[in-house]
Amino acid sequence: MSKEITTRLSGQFALVTGASSGIGAAVAVALAAHGASVVVNYSHDEEGANKVVKTITDAGGQAYAAEADVSKEDQVQAMFKQAIEKFGTLHIVVANAGIQVDSPFLDMTLAQWQKVIDVNLTGQFLCLREAAREFVRRGPQPDVSTALGKIICMSSVHEVIPWGGHVNYASSKGGIMQLMKSTAQELAPQKIRINSIAPGAIATPINLSARDTPEEEKALLELIPYNRVGDPADIGRLAAWLVSDEADYITGQTIFMDGGMTLYPGFASGG
Ligand code: BGC
Repeated sequence: MSKEITTRLSGQFALVTGASSGIGAAVAVALAAHGASVVVNYSHDEEGANKVVKTITDAGGQAYAAEADVSKEDQVQAMFKQAIEKFGTLHIVVANAGIQVDSPFLDMTLAQWQKVIDVNLTGQFLCLREAAREFVRRGPQPDVSTALGKIICMSSVHEVIPWGGHVNYASSKGGIMQLMKSTAQELAPQKIRINSIAPGAIATPINLSARDTPEEEKALLELIPYNRVGDPADIGRLAAWLVSDEADYITGQTIFMDGGMTLYPGFASGG
């Protein structure tokens, strides 16, 4: 008899990459609030990761911080090995870590291109592969989770909206779309669910420079019909639901959470 269908994630073990700040931190906190034990991954910001762990443990949850650069195979494998040793297994992996290294295209160096592809796309490949390997190794636990395992790829509205001046970033997010869909297609028969969340402009450090003057904020809001910048907690709530049994029949989908950014707001008065 499988467990009652609920958003509760009790008894489940999760790993969230890039969880020391921004969207990753909010996702880690939201998963823990629903009862999951969480690995809070970080690459440099140990202090930020420790704060997230403290937020979770102060609220009665279970979490620990783990350093790994997601673009490095040996570091990703060591992080998963440690998580499996500590927790026994993982049921949920959120491949969230991502960076922007912006440049006009004519000036973009190979190093700027490569860095963003390495972290944003290769990093997700490495984490998805380790996650899927662990789900298959562990086998079904239907009283804990209906799916064998759940993966969320953190994408962006820029998996579909072209973004001049950010060609490396937009290319990485377009790549994540096919990474997510192709792995979801291949692994659905094994009951592994893989989906993407595509946030729009969420108030996090990555886009501070696009929001830190009233003029910039006004220009940004013109791209958002719902007229507010998103809160990381918006994404946290969606992630906690998407990995729960309530969303058990969803796989291979990108869910845009963007206040309407992908509605091409310029066409409300133009075209
Ligand atoms: C980027 C942000 C940007 C948002 C909307 C995100 O993926 O990381 O910098 O504000 O897309 O353009």
